[in-house]
This record gives sequence, structure tokens and C-alpha cells, in this order.
Amino acid sequence: ARTTVGIIGAGPAGLLLARLLHNAGIDCVVLESRDRAYIEQRQRAGILEQGTVDVLRAAGVGERMDREGLPHDGIELRYDRRSHRIDFPSLADGRRVLVYAQSEVVKDLVARQLADGPPLLFDAEVVEVAGVDPGSDASHARIHYRRPGPRGPGREESRPTAGLSCDYVIGCDGSHGVSRAAVPAALRTTYERAYPYSWLAVTAQAPPVYRELIYAHSTRGFALASMRSAEVSRLYLQVPNGTDPVDWPDARVWDELDARLAIDADPGRRLGRGPITAKSVLPMRSWVMEPMRYGRLLLAGDAAHIVPPAGAKGLNLAVADVVELSRALVQRHVTGSTERLDAYSATCLRRVWRAEHFSYTMTELLHTAPAQTPFQTRLQLSQLDRIAHSRHAAAELAENYTGLPIAPPS
Ligand code: FAD
Ligand code: DHB
Repeated sequence: ARTTVGIIGAGPAGLLLARLLHNAGIDCVVLESRDRAYIEQRQRAGILEQGTVDVLRAAGVGERMDREGLPHDGIELRYDRRSHRIDFPSLADGRRVLVYAQSEVVKDLVARQLADGPPLLFDAEVVEVAGVDPGSDASHARIHYRRPGPRGPGREESRPTAGLSCDYVIGCDGSHGVSRAAVPAALRTTYERAYPYSWLAVTAQAPPVYRELIYAHSTRGFALASMRSAEVSRLYLQVPNGTDPVDWPDARVWDELDARLAIDADPGRRLGRGPITAKSVLPMRSWVMEPMRYGRLLLAGDAAHIVPPAGAKGLNLAVADVVELSRALVQRHVTGSTERLDAYSATCLRRVWRAEHFSYTMTELLHTAPAQTPFQTRLQLSQLDRIAHSRHAAAELAENYTGLPIAPPS
């Protein structure tokens, strides 16, 4: 088989890129290792920046998002048992964010893709990317993948393989993907930071704690109260690395949330509890690979960079990457110029490093490290106070949280 652009991975990056290319009349094929139900149920990010919302709408997949998404004009910061609101529109030039889960974005993109888009193959696990190197004699690159085969233990290896030839290969295969292995080690540099704590992530059939998100610094560690709808909460607690969710029975989760979210103005307040339907532990790290291109292979989203989740940036960065990539591929297709493709990595990395910095800053500001000294805690509280009382400091947070503008695809 042959196509112009071969896309590896049907996360938000791969699916949105396919939609943008389809809208521009460029053919592509998306190969996804998992099945449809799996990628549609996977619980991950929940916050869409204003720019992400605009892009999804312009791409023709914004209808349900506009109906069901919850616009948020601010967040609440809690620290030292006090709360302080950060108002986005007044601090960030009218910008706000939307609570609309990544799983819903994925469902909307998959539905459009299967209805009228280019091929999206599930159960197609890419095992190798070949012929992408700039010096290669091959006139195009090739993606090797395993096709659906007989199911069952030990059957993986016996699945038949297939090949897809393409002008460009786009690695949107996430943090555990295979595409970046096609870049020779000598030609890539990675930058990394691991954090000494994880998040226990919980979904509960309980109304949101508050009408906006609460990011809480406390002597017991960080807590984040988010939501999925008027009936469903999404909650996160800082826990030690290596934590097993079985050590967190439901009552312990609720007790800990009560303790970490407590404020002096309302000391006895207990959260409305409800059945917990999902519980998992997320390690966190910062990671960037440079450059994001090698010959005919271009990387986008988590395949090229990871951020810790406290800044709510991972999904939004993936969207910004593929918007730039679609423009570069359109320029190549329409004019033959590779100028924008050649600049792709440098263009994206400027935004990537801004998001890395913001995510790192939010993480370090709000968590209590296992070996944290009282001096460091004092610095955190001082900076939180600065954000609460200085318009400049609050605007810095609000501008980064709501996201730098991404112009709609040209
Ligand atoms: P992904 O969404 O990871 O998509 C990659 C796709 O490629 C997957 O569907 C995968 O199955 C497929 N794939 C992988 N290997 C292959 C292969 N060999 N062949 C074919 N297909 C392949 N961000 C936040 O902002 N807030 C959060 O709360 C948050 N929570 C998260 C929780 C978890 C558990 C994880 C992993 C991430 C979380 N993130 C969060 C980050 C955010 O979800 C990601 O930044 C976002 O998913 C990036 O999109 P992507 O399309 O680049 O990658
Ligand atoms: C959600 C996750 C985040 O990491 C964040 O910063 C805000 C919201 C969420 O899943 O709703």
C-alpha cells in the first residue's frame, strides 16, 4: 500500500493531523496498535486551551465539544489553608479554558475519521520505520506493521505483517512509541527530569468539589480537584513513587482529599462522596527530544516531549505540534517548498520549552518532595502569595495556563 503521509498512532496528535490533512486534500493513513474501545476509554487530560478549542472547531470536530464542554474562567489556588482565585479573562487578554476530556476529543475525531476520513486502521502495531534517513536512496519511506491476527496468548508473534510506503512518516505514537528509534542515537539529544512523586488519579460518581478546578498545596502534599461533568469528579492526590492503588481504599482517598483541600474559612467541610469508578497511579517526568525531525520522519506530541500534568499542557502541546506540521505539509504539497518542514522542529521547540518550563514550575510550586526542607516550603508559600497578590505574577500563570495563541490552520 502507498499513501502520501503515514501517521503512527491514533492519539489526539495523530487523529487531528489526519483530519487537518484530509481537510487540505492530502492523503494519509493512520495506524493504531490498540482497538477503538481502548483508545476511546483511556482517561487522560481534561483541559483544552482556548487555542486548542479554536483549532478543533475550525477542523470541523467541535460540535459536541461546544455543546458539552464546560468553559472555565479561572482556577482556585489553595495554600496555607486559604484559597485564592485566579481570573483568566482579566489577566490573559480575554482567554479562558474548556473542561472537555481527552477521551471525548478522541471519540469525536475517531467518529469523523470513520465517517468520511482517510483510513484509520486499528490493531495495526508498527514494528519498524525504514528508509527515512536523509541520505537514503529509497524514494520513499516504509512503515512495517502487524495486522490483526488470531487472538489469544502467544499469538502476537504469528500476526502477519504489512508495509505502507509514504513520502513522510509522522510519529504520533506517544511516550512509549517506536518511531523515534528510527533516529540514530548520535543525532538526537534528550533532556529529562524525573520527579520524586506520582499522582493517584481517581474518577468518582460525585459532583465537582467546586465550580472551578482547585489546585491545592498542603502540608500533606498536593491535591487537584477537577471534573468531567456535573455528576462526575476527576481527582488527583500526590503519592510516593511506587504507590500501589490497592493501598488507597475509597475512604482513604476521600479522607485525604478532605484534609488536603481544607481551608480555615470552612474548616469542617467534607466533600460530597460517591462511588469511585477508576483509580490509577501516574509517575511524572519532563522529557524532550531534539530535534523533532530526522529526514522523512517527523515527531509530534508525546512521542517528542513529555510534561508533568500539573500545567495541563500535554494534550495542548500535541495539538500545537500537528497544527504546525499540517501547515508545513500543505506548503510542501501545494508549492513544493520544504521551508516550513525544515523549520518544523525549531518552530515547535520554542513552544515546547515554554510549556516544559511552566509545567515544571507548577509542579515544583505545588508538590512537597519527600526530602523537602522547611526553607523550600517557605519559598513555595512565598511564591504562592506573590501570585495571589501581584497582578504580574498572576498574569504570568494565567497566560501560560490558558496557552499562547495558536492561529487557526491556514
Ligand atoms: P497518545 O495520546 O499517547 O497517543 C499515542 C497513540 O499511539 C496511542 O493511541 C498508542 O496506542 C499509539 N501507539 C503507540 N505505539 C504504537 C505503535 N508501535 N504502533 C501503532 N500505534 C502505536 N495531560 C494532561 O494535560 N493532564 C492529564 O491529566 C494527563 N494525564 C495523563 C495520564 C496518563 C496515564 C498519560 C499517559 C498521559 C496523561 N497526560 C495528561 C498527557 C496527555 O494525555 C498526552 O500529552 C496526550 O495524550 C498526547 O497525545 P499524543 O497523541 O501525542 O499521544
Ligand atoms: C486535569 C488534569 C490535569 O493534569 C490538570 O492540570 C487539570 C485537569 C483533568 O484531568 O481534568
